[in-house]
Amino acid sequence: MFPAFLLFFSLPFASAVPATRDHVHNINHPLPATSWYLPRDHPANDLFKRAPGDGVNYAPVGSPTWSSGFPQSTPDPNKLPAEWVNALNAAVAAGKIPNVPQSTNTPGVNPVYPQGVNPNGPEVCSATYKCRHPEDIWDAPPNYFGTGFDDGPLPDTPKLLQFLQQNHETATHFMIGVNILAYPQQFSATFESGGDIAAHTWTHPYMTTLNNLEVLGQLGWTSALIKNSTGGRIPRFWRPPYGDSDNRVRAIAKEIFGLETILWNQDTRDWSLLTGGTTQATIHNSMQQWLSGPKTPGLIVLEHESSDQSVQAFMDAYPLIKSNGWNAMSVAQLAGNGTTYRNAKDSMSSVTPAGILVDDDIVPSGTPSSSSSSSSLVPSSAPPSRSTVMQTLGQSQTPTGSGNSLAATNTPTESAALCNTDTTWSRTLLLACLTVTVLSAWP
Ligand SMILES: *[C@@H]1O[C@H](CO)[C@@H](O)[C@H](O)[C@H]1NC(C)=O
Ligand SMILES: *[C@@H]1O[C@H](CO)[C@@H](O)[C@H](O)[C@H]1NC(C)=O
Ligand SMILES: [Zn+2]
Repeated sequence: MFPAFLLFFSLPFASAVPATRDHVHNINHPLPATSWYLPRDHPANDLFKRAPGDGVNYAPVGSPTWSSGFPQSTPDPNKLPAEWVNALNAAVAAGKIPNVPQSTNTPGVNPVYPQGVNPNGPEVCSATYKCRHPEDIWDAPPNYFGTGFDDGPLPDTPKLLQFLQQNHETATHFMIGVNILAYPQQFSATFESGGDIAAHTWTHPYMTTLNNLEVLGQLGWTSALIKNSTGGRIPRFWRPPYGDSDNRVRAIAKEIFGLETILWNQDTRDWSLLTGGTTQATIHNSMQQWLSGPKTPGLIVLEHESSDQSVQAFMDAYPLIKSNGWNAMSVAQLAGNGTTYRNAKDSMSSVTPAGILVDDDIVPSGTPSSSSSSSSLVPSSAPPSRSTVMQTLGQSQTPTGSGNSLAATNTPTESAALCNTDTTWSRTLLLACLTVTVLSAWP
């Protein structure tokens, strides 16, 4: 259940969140025409890394134009780009989206399926129930520590980035769409530092409780915002909030948006540091145990960039990763064999414009694709092909006009509903409230 005192914790904190839109990052800023050159390994490169884009003119990250086409809260399933809905309908008609019943839950409690439905059976295979679908990534390769952080970007993201850069580490950042809207500076700092950006849904719901269109909105808008904020990179990986996915959700992610699922094999519960659910000492002991244990399989540890304390927990454990001889690597790089976007190797290398991509074959030329079988899953006669969907990931949405849509569907927590009741709040504060809901209510 959602403890009532968290509401009192959340609100003062939310109103203390500073405005975050004062700095605008223009990712399309051109390099000077004359030579401006430093050797590749010069330390100054760390300060001035630039990520080339796909040539499309995207609005500057943090600008009103950049954010205005995206939902401010829970996506309205009736206002999705037609291309996404058509692709979903075609995939359903082709039998590619299993007809698994929606689960139900109360916030903070594992979702349950209707009576008679086996969450561990081959039809459902719910990750909440630790059913491991062979296409999902739960383990790192032997000897590897897959580094990744959920729920950003947030105010403590810079502290994490600084630590990663000092230690020459790259991580995967599983980001929440509304948090990107609320913290554009922290988003751009993550991307520009070379971090791998992956999707963690738009508003962090239990995905198996949503209907197909709601799943579509949660994943589509997040991919589209990441695309529009990274010079056109389309994310290749997503992580379900609470680890809640099943065959239906997994299929929508993969068939429509090309998203592959990354779970984890150890959980620090660091998200509950703020509320006394765990302590630094407990996390340190767990980390010590895992990191001094067997190196097969490799480790994927669930961690968050959601608070100073959770970032600190990683910093405290980091020396153990090294002293125990693990190879730390961004978990998306491990899962993708170095390729962390659908159409780009990583945040620092060039982008294949989505417009020239064919079906799901949108990995940079010369890079082997791990998803060789799925081209045949979408019949060539079925409109539209995935390439059409990819082209239209950036499609703008009819403006919804108000934040009131927050209460429309599957409000994730009681606190989020509370966010919605005060209609006098500015949009930023509404997002901040939702963000703090994220912080206080879930892993
Ligand atoms: C991973 O990438 C390396 C280097 O690009 C390549 O040699 C290797 O065959 C790839 N492995 C797989 C499983 O694709
Ligand atoms: C994404 O960027 C493209 C290119 O600037 C733009 O046409 C599109 O409307 C943007 N998408 C949204 C939802 O704002
Ligand atoms: Zn999360």
